[in-house]
Amino acid sequence: MKVLITGGCGFVGSNVAIFLKKRNFSVSSLDNLSRKGSLFNLKLLRQSKIKNYKIDIGNYKKIKKIPKFDLIIDCCAEAAVEVSRDELDRVFDTNLVGTLNILKKAKKDKSKVIFLSSSRVYPIELLNKSYKFKSFKKSINTKKKINEDSSIQGARTIYGFTKLASEMLIEEFGYAYNIKYIINRCGVISGPLQFGKQDQGFVSHWIWKHINKSKLSYIGYGGHGNQTRDVLHVEDLCNLLILQIKNISKIYNKLFVVGGSTASYTSLKKLTFICQKITKNKISLTKKPKTSIYDIPCYISDNSKVSKVYKWRPKKNIYSIVKDTYIWLSKNKKNIKKYF
Ligand SMILES: NC(=O)c1ccc[n+]([C@@H]2O[C@H](COP(=O)([O-])OP(=O)(O)OC[C@H]3O[C@@H](n4cnc5c(N)ncnc54)[C@H](O)[C@@H]3O)[C@@H](O)[C@H]2O)c1
Repeated sequence: MKVLITGGCGFVGSNVAIFLKKRNFSVSSLDNLSRKGSLFNLKLLRQSKIKNYKIDIGNYKKIKKIPKFDLIIDCCAEAAVEVSRDELDRVFDTNLVGTLNILKKAKKDKSKVIFLSSSRVYPIELLNKSYKFKSFKKSINTKKKINEDSSIQGARTIYGFTKLASEMLIEEFGYAYNIKYIINRCGVISGPLQFGKQDQGFVSHWIWKHINKSKLSYIGYGGHGNQTRDVLHVEDLCNLLILQIKNISKIYNKLFVVGGSTASYTSLKKLTFICQKITKNKISLTKKPKTSIYDIPCYISDNSKVSKVYKWRPKKNIYSIVKDTYIWLSKNKKNIKKYF
């Protein structure tokens, strides 16, 4: 099977590309190399004999000229929520026009599509209501989980909007042009090959700061570090994608919530503790009580549907995720420094 991975030099894309290549898929990538770190991942792709088409996903004239693929896995986005508020044109071109272009290409070539969506499609108000802090000093109640039927009514960040609108476009193309698709609404994903920043890839960012003994801050919710997210190891995601690819002729046009769920979640405070244990470094942590209007207290995915359909569940807990990411970051410290 010929697979094109858009954003193939990004964190998720490069992991998926290398994973599929090892399993004898014919894999290519489409990435304009705009993300810091994508050049590092490109070298790994080249070592695995994976070609990258250096094309902007907003440029359909160029996209339509590349060969035909059986499946497109769309891992291309500007995924930082704060950036999405500041760089509207670039974010709409990449995240929304990009999806449209991939769908036009899929329509032309009769390709199937797997789309990586985001938990940020859920409205901020829903998440604020679902995960109320009794006191910022106490950990949050993580029993409430978000599933496919949770409300999508309300503002959600510009990034989240582009992901939701992309989902809708995919559904329209599925209906109008018989494109078989799968949409995965993912919570936080982490693991090796991630060049984390404060608002995108916080687990990798946290570990990197610990390795380098730099400063960090608990931002928002009183500055106590109790905000919480579920985290999915990218390898667990790759294992799910393989199941989805193998079954896509039978199981298609479905949307799944996918995340670490209760098998793997962490508050920032707990993450600090794990980082201290693994890196053996203790760093200075300041409190910044106020946060962005885009911040949310907690997010935990309900994996029930995806687990039932594919008999899949995440195997790696938060400790393993931190450990695997730490091993990769520390081993490559010298070569990757310039990308952070
Ligand atoms: N990482 C997460 O925690 C997470 C969570 C939920 C959903 N997702 C989704 O998964 C996908 C992959 O995320 P990621 O963390 O790997 O992001 P990433 O930033 O590491 O990778 C995105 C890649 O897309 C490329 N790119 C950006 N704009 C482009 C453009 N205009 N044309 C061509 N290439 C372009 C970048 O160079 C980069 O290599 C995204 O769609 C994201 O929305 C990620």
